[in-house]
Amino acid sequence: MKILIIGANGEIGKRLVLGLEDKHEIITAGRSTGDIKVDISSKESIKDMFNLVTNIDACVCVAGDSYTGSLDSLDEEKLNVGIKNKLVAQANLVLIGKNYINDKGSFTLTSGKMGDKPGVNAVGKAIANGGVNSFALAAGLEMPRGITINAVSPSKVSNISDEDLINGYLKSIEGNTNGEIIKINY
Ligand SMILES: NC(=O)c1ccc[n+]([C@@H]2O[C@H](COP(=O)([O-])OP(=O)(O)OC[C@H]3O[C@@H](n4cnc5c(N)ncnc54)[C@H](OP(=O)(O)O)[C@@H]3O)[C@@H](O)[C@H]2O)c1
Repeated sequence: MKILIIGANGEIGKRLVLGLEDKHEIITAGRSTGDIKVDISSKESIKDMFNLVTNIDACVCVAGDSYTGSLDSLDEEKLNVGIKNKLVAQANLVLIGKNYINDKGSFTLTSGKMGDKPGVNAVGKAIANGGVNSFALAAGLEMPRGITINAVSPSKVSNISDEDLINGYLKSIEGNTNGEIIKINY
């Protein structure tokens, strides 16, 4: 399988690449690192990436910033960090990428536990993660050409074993799962 991983140099991405590269062809992408440079907060940059990398079976996104801080410290600008860089960025990846990815390909987005089991200082993350989850649930009903979409929602990744982390992502990448939130280590 040819798998494009955006955010491949991050905490989750590095572990995913190590877990998948033996069995699959991996193309890495990131803002400043990887085979392909992309900024997923820019539609033009996403289009450029899909024009460069062809014949993709699975597109995995483990990238997207959001704001961490108290409710008191929040304002519209801080909320928009996650909305723009994590929620809308990953939605755009699918809206654009579904025109390029192979038939029966898969999109795997990343949300996070703070979307449905938040702690304090997590409103900025919660709103982005909840949106990513809802996008995957609803978009899964309408994806064309047998393409699937899921959101992986990990808890704190440093507490997750490599096996659980990789199997969570593989459930979306390799399986027939569609329109689901795949929770890891809740
Ligand atoms: N770490 C956790 O415990 C955890 C738990 C639940 C959910 N999550 C979520 O999982 C995602 C990844 O987390 P992480 O901890 O692995 O992040 P990380 O270590 O900060 O790495 C993020 C990666 O994404 C790339 N990136 C960031 N913004 C980008 C953009 N606009 N366009 C393209 N690439 C971009 C970075 O590329 P460069 O290195 O090239 O700049 C980097 O490789 C985040 O959305 C995070 O909220 C993380």
